[in-house]
Amino acid sequence: MQTQILPNIDWVGHIDWTVRDFHGYRTEAGSTYNAYLVRDTKTAVIDSVKAPYAADLIAHVAALTPLDKVDYIVCNHAEPDHSSALPALRAACPNAKIVCNAKCRDALQAHFGAMDWPFEVIRDGDSLPLGARTLQFFDTPMVHWPESMATFVPEDGILFSMDAFGQHLASSQRFEQELPLDVVLGHAKTYYANIVMPYGKPVSQALARLGALPIKTICPSHGVCWRKHIPDILACYQKWMVCAPTRKAVVLFSSMWDSTRLMAKAITEGIAETNVAFKLIDVNVTHDTETVTELIDCAAFAVGSATLNQGMMPNLARTLTYLRGLRPTGKAAFAFGSYGWSQKGASEAEAYLQAMKAEILRPVLVCRYRPDASTLEACREAGRQLARRALAAAPAE
Ligand code: FEO
Repeated sequence: MQTQILPNIDWVGHIDWTVRDFHGYRTEAGSTYNAYLVRDTKTAVIDSVKAPYAADLIAHVAALTPLDKVDYIVCNHAEPDHSSALPALRAACPNAKIVCNAKCRDALQAHFGAMDWPFEVIRDGDSLPLGARTLQFFDTPMVHWPESMATFVPEDGILFSMDAFGQHLASSQRFEQELPLDVVLGHAKTYYANIVMPYGKPVSQALARLGALPIKTICPSHGVCWRKHIPDILACYQKWMVCAPTRKAVVLFSSMWDSTRLMAKAITEGIAETNVAFKLIDVNVTHDTETVTELIDCAAFAVGSATLNQGMMPNLARTLTYLRGLRPTGKAAFAFGSYGWSQKGASEAEAYLQAMKAEILRPVLVCRYRPDASTLEACREAGRQLARRALAAAPAE
């Protein structure tokens, strides 16, 4: 398996072929936890892996260099998928200093009780010479934790970007050009939507800074590295960081006795009268990972819920709770749904839309028990309204 990124810069991480849940994100294609070894006069390990795979990481490093020759272990990000093997790695590399910023040191100490670790605390913009190569450190706060940073090797133009530009994609290949580009970009989009989306402004600040570097290779901490298609992934991030709308509307719903589904279907019939693309998503059979990925580039969406026990349907509440945290920006939306004697399902859904600062396109659209012909026509008209919004938001496509 190819592990060399450049001469004396190697991938030493772990491929997690079987992980299917990443704190709620369904990782259907598995993932990788990428760590890298830079060998020079001084030797540095960049990042780490999940604790259960520490032995794998240590073996990969040991195959390339004696462990007591490791001088530095750089920690770009304290989240445990990249740091929980650090205690084992540190123990295996007795002469290594842990290089990180002060916030990361604090986080590592809180996570691992690492009070006596030999930290070398660096600041934004600092450099660490290794010999012919240099490590430069750039803080990227809230992309996507407060301590997050990236490490750049100017002599090679390699950016170790941490989670940014990553994908949950298990692969024996190390570079994006070895896989179909649409597959890699699709996983990068899903990753962005489910992990990075709430942090559009910090992402834009990080891109402005990192994008100015003479980058030839991007080595993220998940998935494959970028070498040939760097302009493509940078262009995608420019769109995703503002949740740029396309001519697309999404209707998601949870029905009880089919009435809310009939309303949802009628809404899509209204959209279908136009050339606006649309998706109909039953949240009872669609994972939130997929739903959120559909929403990042829509212009408008509708959420429908029947009323159960004077509230929203539980699965829609789950989806909207997830969505409220991820905060897609610049979307227009409305709520709809059926009820029997308490009109709460749709209005609770609307409260979530307000909390995520969606532009409310129209008052809640409700019907008692079963949608009649006039209700279905009102749903179609609401669908046309979604379509008009999508056409206005993305007129040039
Ligand atoms: Fe892959 Fe934020 O950890």
